[in-house]
Amino acid sequence: MRSEPPFDPIARAARIAARPVVLEARGLGKTYPGAKGRVPALSGIDLAIRRREFVTVVGPSGSGKSTLARILAGLDEHDSGEVLVDGHPVRGPGRDRGMVFQAYSLFPWLTVMGNVMTGPRFAGNGRDAARSIALQYLELVGLEHLADRWPHQLSGGQRQRVAIARALANEPRVLLMDEPFGALDPHTRATLQGNLIDLWFNIPITIIFITHDLDEAVLLADRIVVLGGPDADHAGGWLRETITVPLPVPRTPDVVLSPEFRAVRERLDSLIHPAEPPRPRERIPVYRLAAAGDDVR
Ligand SMILES: Nc1ncnc2c1ncn2[C@@H]1O[C@H](COP(=O)(O)OP(=O)(O)OP(=O)(O)O)[C@@H](O)[C@H]1O
Ligand SMILES: [Mg+2]
Repeated sequence: MRSEPPFDPIARAARIAARPVVLEARGLGKTYPGAKGRVPALSGIDLAIRRREFVTVVGPSGSGKSTLARILAGLDEHDSGEVLVDGHPVRGPGRDRGMVFQAYSLFPWLTVMGNVMTGPRFAGNGRDAARSIALQYLELVGLEHLADRWPHQLSGGQRQRVAIARALANEPRVLLMDEPFGALDPHTRATLQGNLIDLWFNIPITIIFITHDLDEAVLLADRIVVLGGPDADHAGGWLRETITVPLPVPRTPDVVLSPEFRAVRERLDSLIHPAEPPRPRERIPVYRLAAAGDDVR
């Protein structure tokens, strides 16, 4: 019997780095109008995402994760730098990039099938062709039996699966997901993580996935992008670090017990929730509490 060669994380990272870049940000910056002038949201983001890479994005609240995803998807304007798809600068949305949001964003006036057919219809397919494309993607997320339901008749997890099918039915090359599982209970979330990994294996897609859940960020990613919040040196969100996850794919949930997983998780924790410097303990008149019989020791 031939045994599997041991996993070599450096060789895998080199294989990924040799693939063509699909989506690139160069010196990306964004400010929003505020009461006292422009408020910086992102500054100087350089990022190159390669074909079929799974990149997760983490960072404190307000570090510009959603802004970055919306700009990459072409749903928001940037005011400096460039976004390139296959090396060509782009502005505005395109069928090459799909987006899934945390808030359930299905059209409430269309059935599940109607929602998923929207993209194929918009692309010029006739009703029957659009229906068969939509059915294929509903099958991929395991919801073909719910094609005639209305969005309000679905659970949160089912709605997100329809939202994923709807984005995929446009056959994008890059899928941008902004905390897509953030509102789901842990069990449903774990199921959808597994579904997403299966999809990623089965269709030629590159995924950029924003999350607040650091375990999820490590579990899913080839590479983790860590954004930093504004601080003394940075007016807006900035690219703090990228971390290559040194674990083979696909991963099963028990990978969280591995030392490699723990090491990456601890690194993320130290970047995102840095330990506060110990505050000097105030001297309080303990004797008075003790005397009153309130001593907790
Ligand atoms: N439409 C807007 N108008 C003005 N400021 C905005 C707008 N959208 C975002 N901002 C600001 O830009 C910064 C980045 O916001 P963004 O939503 O991208 O952060 P985030 O990392 O996604 O945060 P969260 O983790 O809370 O979702 C924040 O300071 C935010 O207040
Ligand atoms: Mg956000």
